[in-house]
Amino acid sequence: MDRPRIIIFDTSLRDGEQSPGCSMNVEEKLRLAQQLDRLGVDVIEAGFPIASDGDFEAVRAISASVRRPIIAALARAVPGDIDRAWQAIQGAARPRIHVVLATSDIHLKYKLRITREECLEKARESVRRAKALCADVEFSPEDATRSDQDFLCQVVEAVVAAGATTVNIPDTVGYSTPEDYGRLLRILRERVAGIEKVTISTHCHNDLGLAVANSMAGVQAGARQVECTINGIGERAGNASLEEIVMAMRVRPDRYPYETGIVGEQIYASSQMLAEITRVPVQPNKAITGRNAFAHEAGIHQDGMLKNPLTYEIMTPQSVGVPDSRLVLGKHSGRHALALRCEQLGHQFDRRELDEVYRRFVVLADRIKKVQDSHLLELIQEVCAQGKRIPPASAAMPYAKAASAAVASSNEVQLPFPGTAPANGSTSSITVAFADYHGEQEDYLWGV
Ligand code: KIV
Ligand code: ZN
Repeated sequence: MDRPRIIIFDTSLRDGEQSPGCSMNVEEKLRLAQQLDRLGVDVIEAGFPIASDGDFEAVRAISASVRRPIIAALARAVPGDIDRAWQAIQGAARPRIHVVLATSDIHLKYKLRITREECLEKARESVRRAKALCADVEFSPEDATRSDQDFLCQVVEAVVAAGATTVNIPDTVGYSTPEDYGRLLRILRERVAGIEKVTISTHCHNDLGLAVANSMAGVQAGARQVECTINGIGERAGNASLEEIVMAMRVRPDRYPYETGIVGEQIYASSQMLAEITRVPVQPNKAITGRNAFAHEAGIHQDGMLKNPLTYEIMTPQSVGVPDSRLVLGKHSGRHALALRCEQLGHQFDRRELDEVYRRFVVLADRIKKVQDSHLLELIQEVCAQGKRIPPASAAMPYAKAASAAVASSNEVQLPFPGTAPANGSTSSITVAFADYHGEQEDYLWGV
């Protein structure tokens, strides 16, 4: 049976850009939009044209040059915003006007200073105005998750009747939980007349670290569009992260049996480009795109990885465009990883000689934390200089040889990931076979 297709709506250029330090100029926005196109997103929210002339220009430039995805522009529920948004996107191959109006009592009372009745009327009127300009209209009841549910249903019903084609349910302040969010979407689907004609969308902020979980709960409750950003950038704690949502669906199709049009191999490049443009680095332990996401330092982990990446990686680095798994050589590294790196540097050791290199390596790693190849080469030179002869390649059973011997004898284990062979069928580039070169127990201890 075909899996439901989830529309990936990227708002890195609008909600993402609203986060401190993330503003981009026209040329940078255009460059990122072209990368989002390569990434395969379905909708690019290019900006908020009324906000500034620069934003208007960026949305117009993206509309003119990025032709495959839908290009959306944000507008508040006022005529000037809607008209300006349309001016910016009317040259797009597939334009969308995105109208936002808050529906929670807190926002109505303190921010907009209008009654619920006035809010209902504004919502209806603004969608009608947008619809007269553009066939594709999205409506967002801002702060939906803190809105009175009966009133929210009333507003959603009114905008659907006025011609909205997508209804987005923002958890604007990141207050919701997966249970609450899923329940709210189910209530809307049950109570709102005509809701089956429109696409329901999620838009979750990460103030409690639940943005991705809430988005997934929304999809399970029937949403077919997810609004998200690269690296999870966005207002305050950010938006739901695109790469986490997409990879959750790829790695756990048993739980999330949905398809997206995302080209996984473009994820890392998109993340790096965004970080480079905004100069906001990706946190090292960020899922999928952080520099440690595929790095293994602990000896036991490195040992397992070298035997079979399935031991510690649930997806291949290549499946998200990360060039390689990186075995970081530090004080927790074991002899197995050290021997492999030495061999990659052209030096092969027997067990006794490796012990000596390893002893020095641990002292060095304790001091400098991360041992680079240049350090390792120096250390090897020292060992040589002290008369510890490095044996020729044939003297020892080197790791690479052991690996290729094992491949030849079909001992190599390169299994696809359970249930989730990457789209390109590739497996991790770390491919070290079970070399029958020392016992299992000893090998385990080496990893420590
Ligand atoms: O968080 C929010 O409510 C928004 C809307 C504009 C969709 O970003
Ligand atoms: Zn938002």
